[in-house]
Amino acid sequence: MIEKRRSKISGWGVFATQAINKNKRIISYSGEKISNAESVRRERRYIKGGHIWCFKLTNRTVIDGHVGGNDSRYINHSCRPNCYVHIIDGVIWVRAAKNIRKGEELTYNYHTDGDGLIQCKCRPGCRTIL
Ligand SMILES: C[S@@+](CC[C@H](N)C(=O)[O-])C[C@H]1O[C@@H](n2cnc3c(N)ncnc32)[C@H](O)[C@@H]1O
Ligand SMILES: [Zn+2]
Repeated sequence: MIEKRRSKISGWGVFATQAINKNKRIISYSGEKISNAESVRRERRYIKGGHIWCFKLTNRTVIDGHVGGNDSRYINHSCRPNCYVHIIDGVIWVRAAKNIRKGEELTYNYHTDGDGLIQCKCRPGCRTIL
């Protein structure tokens, strides 16, 4: 249903290899489950390489997609995304926010707080800081 390819937004991205229906569970954001405190330490290190990998699951737990993750870790952020994230029974699902065409890049909104200081490139002229 999906594959990793070079993206116009940034580095690697994930693309639909077939049409995907709205609300379909596409892939789960997997990786090592760590504490919030540990994720703060790791994020400081990762951000030096320009990357955000940690996904907040609850106030106390975070999934580090950089360790033991799957291709979901290559899904880029967009401020006008075609996917959304839905946490069901502790699993972070990436789901289709609309009907997605074959070849479209998958994106969701990271909802970061700007700490990464990464200029968003989801579209020309976007002013968001990730
Ligand atoms: C989870 S990774 C996504 C995969 C990444 N493109 C790669 O090649 O490894 C998140 C990182 O991708 C980049 N990224 C994702 N969405 C972006 C966007 N809308 N604008 C700029 N950079 C983005 C940032 O460097 C971010 O820290
Ligand atoms: Zn943007």
